[in-house]
Amino acid sequence: MSTLTLASAIEFASSEWGILLALGLSFPIIVSIRRSLRRLHRSSRLPSNYERVLILGASSGIGRAIAHLYASRGARVCIVSRREDELNAVVEECRNLSMKAGHGEYQAGGRRVISVVADFSETDDMVRVRDFLETEWRGLDTCLVVAGVSALKPLMAVAGVENVGRSFKPPQADAEGIQKTLDAGTLAAKCNYLGPLVSAVTLIPLLSTTSPAPSILLLSSLAATVPAPTRSIYASSKAASLMLYESLAIEHPAIHWSYVLPATVEGAFRSSAVDGGEVREADPNIRGIKREAVAKRCVSAIDNGDRMVYMPWYTEWAPFIYWVWPGYIEWRASKKYRFAPTKSS
Ligand SMILES: NC(=O)c1ccc[n+]([C@@H]2O[C@H](COP(=O)([O-])OP(=O)(O)OC[C@H]3O[C@@H](n4cnc5c(N)ncnc54)[C@H](OP(=O)(O)O)[C@@H]3O)[C@@H](O)[C@H]2O)c1
Repeated sequence: MSTLTLASAIEFASSEWGILLALGLSFPIIVSIRRSLRRLHRSSRLPSNYERVLILGASSGIGRAIAHLYASRGARVCIVSRREDELNAVVEECRNLSMKAGHGEYQAGGRRVISVVADFSETDDMVRVRDFLETEWRGLDTCLVVAGVSALKPLMAVAGVENVGRSFKPPQADAEGIQKTLDAGTLAAKCNYLGPLVSAVTLIPLLSTTSPAPSILLLSSLAATVPAPTRSIYASSKAASLMLYESLAIEHPAIHWSYVLPATVEGAFRSSAVDGGEVREADPNIRGIKREAVAKRCVSAIDNGDRMVYMPWYTEWAPFIYWVWPGYIEWRASKKYRFAPTKSS
């Protein structure tokens, strides 16, 4: 390198642009080192076959796939859901996976795979879950709050009102329609907001006092941070629990808090719609993210101490784009959910 080129390289490196470029290039390296250190920190305090993991909402879908992953690596797994038969089937699957990987039925005096039939939004049920964990494992290390319900209709459609241009058919929502909407909103709030609330208040002290590396993960949704038509009830109830947990993370810094926000995932989630709505987007079982991929990312988010995880990764730009150019996100969301806004002429 000639003296001139070297001198101009030094000059560029010490300029503002040079410093910015160096910072930009070193950012991914710093992030990756931090993640490795956090991972090492947790795994050195908590070997994976000693980890006591509670999964709320694991009789199907993503929760079931998460249970499989933890069972395969020998963790102690407690799964919770309301449907007993489905839950028993998942217990059986987890026991088989755990044994296949060479882990015994018991660990540290407690059974390795256990379950409780419970509704995570009911006080008595969650107290029963906590008592069971204390008796069986004498504590808890990791809690994944997975359960949720969908709602798929535009708000006025829930009330039985059709929007045509500037007019409505019938012209107003009647008392029955308003009540129907309230019922759907109450069901969504009970599962998507009150369930995470009851779980947190029941389990925070147990996690904090019995684990060397306590962790909570909330399975949220992209809809919690980016609005979409036909998702007003679902998105607002998921946003409420996300903000609840983000605030709790400040109140309880000894616990590590993770939030995973997937876009559409394959599976039967939409059949539980509290408003009886139908799927409007392209078939989620063809176009959706694989539930195993979401499960894997949930487990790695806890292992690595990741805070906010969007899936697919590029959707993390969506809240920023909505901030600078809301019309673009609104257009994309309307297209995705085949929703034609009825603008007045
Ligand atoms: N699927 C998607 O496209 C998608 C996208 C983004 C985010 N998410 C989020 O991912 C989570 C799981 O979705 P999924 O696709 O796995 O749905 P899923 O297949 O319907 O599974 C939901 C699970 O939650 C349980 N559950 C529901 N209400 C419960 C309650 N009150 N108490 C205890 N367990 C309850 C269900 O079991 P029981 O019925 O037996 O109780 C079931 O095991 C939800 O929080 C959802 O918001 C899903």
